[in-house]
Amino acid sequence: MSKYLSLVPGPTQVHPRVLEAMSQQVMTHLDEGWRPLYLQTCDKMRRIFETTGQVFLMASSGTGAMEAAVSSVVAPGETILVLSNGLFGDRIAMIAERYHLQVETLHFPTGGPLDPEALRARLQKGTGGIAAVGAVYSESQNGILNPIRDVAAVCRSFDIPLIVDTVSALAGAEFHMDEWGVDIAVSAGQKCIGGVVGMAMIAVADDAWRHFAHKTGTGFYFNLNLWRDSVRSNVIHPHPWSMSETLVYGLNAACDLILEEGLEQRVHRHWALYDFYMEELQRLGFTPFVPRSCACPTVISMNRHPKLTIEELSRRLKEEYGILIGVGIYQQQGKIWRIGNMAEQARPEKARRLIDALLELLA
Ligand SMILES: Cc1ncc(COP(=O)(O)O)c(C=O)c1O
Repeated sequence: MSKYLSLVPGPTQVHPRVLEAMSQQVMTHLDEGWRPLYLQTCDKMRRIFETTGQVFLMASSGTGAMEAAVSSVVAPGETILVLSNGLFGDRIAMIAERYHLQVETLHFPTGGPLDPEALRARLQKGTGGIAAVGAVYSESQNGILNPIRDVAAVCRSFDIPLIVDTVSALAGAEFHMDEWGVDIAVSAGQKCIGGVVGMAMIAVADDAWRHFAHKTGTGFYFNLNLWRDSVRSNVIHPHPWSMSETLVYGLNAACDLILEEGLEQRVHRHWALYDFYMEELQRLGFTPFVPRSCACPTVISMNRHPKLTIEELSRRLKEEYGILIGVGIYQQQGKIWRIGNMAEQARPEKARRLIDALLELLA
């Protein structure tokens, strides 16, 4: 058992009901209870993504689900247009490169949101060969919530499918997949969903299949057409390969917690704590890395304090107060630190503990 209070931006510490669910004996797919349990969990995830489309659960971390989306939708010779303002946007491009797909990236500064108008301007020059646009909703490297609704509207107007990474936002920040017109959304269990690492989910809007149902896809394990066939055919089990029952038990319990709380209420809880952190941290002399207008409530990014390096801040919080925080990574190393305000970590008593520790530490 960890002796620390973790406030890193995932994996999150989880609710006892999730742990309890995962300690059950495995059911195996031959049990008549398995298919309904798996499909009901997919259904709960559909409600969380807010889509009438199809959701698949994959035994991988979130990167696997992004790999599934990219390699299923974009065929060799075609281009994915990536919008990036940070590490996880860049990762979409890296995945596509590994599949030998054509990649074009529109880079945006890491201290601000993606610009949908820049996307429009690019697409107005011609869309030949562009099979998909890829973007991150909550760019965890920088704590930015990108304007995906507007990005989706631009993609719609050019009839290009949009793939969105919602890994660090789903169930913590508002996300309305169908209403916004997102074609494919990927996520992972270990962030605002409140589950553990190893379960990724991918949602495909009803209307999105027309863009790639006819494509062979360059992947196998992550080939979305094979995943869809397995649900339809009902041979063996509703997923093409063996599934971790234990992880599905855990995700199912995490989904129940989300739906019992209510999505709207849950998102409100994350924003309320974001505001609490902002007020208290600014009182202590910290400044936010990004303004509230583009800030993500689930990954809070703060500039370094004038009195303390990031290295010292994170080391002393760990050693003296038993609290783990996220530090800046890559370009942000030494410049910012981050709080994972997610799921069970987004609780007032935990936020208070961090603020009290900082108060003492800076005194
Ligand atoms: C926005 C975002 N996308 C993708 C990932 C990668 O997810 P995973 O580590 O589950 O593969 C992360 C992980 O931190 C993330 O924050």
